[in-house]
Amino acid sequence: MKVCVIGASGKLGRYMVRHALDRGYEVVGVCRERSVPKLADFADRITVVPGDTDDREAVRRAVAGCGGVLTVLAPWGVRQYSSGTAQAVLDHAEPGARLVFSCGWHVPRDDRDRYTRLFRATVRVTAWLARLVRAVEIDDQLEAARRIYASGLRWTLVRGSDLEEGESRGLPVWSRHVGDPVLASNRTRRVDFALFMVEALTDDALVGEAPAIVGRDTPSALAHAGEAGGRA
Ligand SMILES: NC(=O)c1ccc[n+]([C@@H]2O[C@H](COP(=O)([O-])OP(=O)(O)OC[C@H]3O[C@@H](n4cnc5c(N)ncnc54)[C@H](OP(=O)(O)O)[C@@H]3O)[C@@H](O)[C@H]2O)c1
Repeated sequence: MKVCVIGASGKLGRYMVRHALDRGYEVVGVCRERSVPKLADFADRITVVPGDTDDREAVRRAVAGCGGVLTVLAPWGVRQYSSGTAQAVLDHAEPGARLVFSCGWHVPRDDRDRYTRLFRATVRVTAWLARLVRAVEIDDQLEAARRIYASGLRWTLVRGSDLEEGESRGLPVWSRHVGDPVLASNRTRRVDFALFMVEALTDDALVGEAPAIVGRDTPSALAHAGEAGGRA
């Protein structure tokens, strides 16, 4: 399979490139021109298309011929970067391609996601402060998600917990809804977030799903192992 990683130079992106290469996939990466050197380790094994991830022309060229597209939705600046990135992928991906996007738990799938008051307040304050300094537009990830849900394409939106670095612990477990007890530990290794994204490319059970993930060896995942919703 030929796979495109949109946002390949970031931490999540580089882990996804590595997992995809490990599976023998042909990899094309899109990243900002200034970040191309961050992909030096993979230079002779992947094709890099320099460009912002919402650059429609760069995305169009990069996704051509790809059976899978892995997209990092990052809400940088106040210019609808996440929704612009999602839209470029939705518009230009090959018909029938598997489209896997990343975001955080704060993006709801539907009204069965349950958030604590503290979580809601933290997101509200963070979003307000980030917008004030014009650094990040968290709400735009919600708009990106709305467009993905409405697309009718073969999408999966992977919703990550808080992330940490470290060795892989294996494929995270997931639930359809934030607030499920299996997710309570709220911790996933970034390398395993990437693993889940790449595995989703070939898991048709995840088409049209927005799995909220958590590390498989976290206390909440272990306590609820085998229950409906969370998958080992
Ligand atoms: N951080 C968390 O705790 C957390 C929690 C849950 C979910 N997530 C989700 O996980 C995914 C990856 O997040 P991450 O925190 O791990 O970050 P990351 O992998 O390092 O990715 C950040 C991305 O944003 C790009 N970027 C950075 N500054 C930018 C700017 N000023 N303008 C345009 N692009 C810029 C980076 O590209 P360059 O290489 O060009 O800088 C990179 O592609 C995201 O979808 C996020 O929503 C994160």
